[in-house]
Amino acid sequence: MRYLEGRRQDDRQARSDHLLERIERRRSIRKFTPQDVSDQQIRLLLSAGMAAPSGHNFQPWHFVVVREEDNRLALAETHGYAGMIKQAPAVIAVCADSEMSLHWLEDACLAAGNILLQATALGLGAVWVAVYPHAEHEIFVRGVLGIPERIRVVCLIPVGYPAEAKPPRTKYDPGKVHLERFGG
Ligand SMILES: Cc1cc2nc3c(=O)[nH]c(=O)nc-3n(C[C@H](O)[C@H](O)[C@H](O)COP(=O)(O)O)c2cc1C
Repeated sequence: MRYLEGRRQDDRQARSDHLLERIERRRSIRKFTPQDVSDQQIRLLLSAGMAAPSGHNFQPWHFVVVREEDNRLALAETHGYAGMIKQAPAVIAVCADSEMSLHWLEDACLAAGNILLQATALGLGAVWVAVYPHAEHEIFVRGVLGIPERIRVVCLIPVGYPAEAKPPRTKYDPGKVHLERFGG
């Protein structure tokens, strides 16, 4: 078990060389400057999303890119923790076709995770704003964006240049690791 608990020094070196260092740099950013994000940046975010693994490789995801102010202001009203959407120059609604795959939720979550990481890599800030599993939020977003019923809305990701700085951090917790058997 000790090898999973210690060796922070070794970990630091490995982190700086590897993807983990970038992964830990991703933080939820909820304050944005007015600077716009480019179409190319949006394309890179979507490419990262669509690079995710998916059950049977069905790729059931859909992404609604929202830039118009009226739509963004409407989405900011989705619930009480979505207000930062007002400031963000772009929002990506991560959706999935629930008739295409039993794994639509897992697939959409993986795509969303990739988008968050790619945003960090581009020097942008982003945050997951929950829609699923709250039916009322999903109905609201569907109404704003004209999304048909079979297409489930998993989350909204506001994206922009960060107006707040958050340090990278590890959340590694040996207490969450079990060897061979739960509790071991
Ligand atoms: C499923 C899920 C739902 C979340 N919903 C919201 C949300 O509605 N509004 C928000 O501001 N942050 C939301 N977050 C972001 C979390 O608050 C954030 O990831 C957590 O506090 C850890 O901080 P970090 O992302 O900086 O590591 C959500 C994250 C996840 C994964």
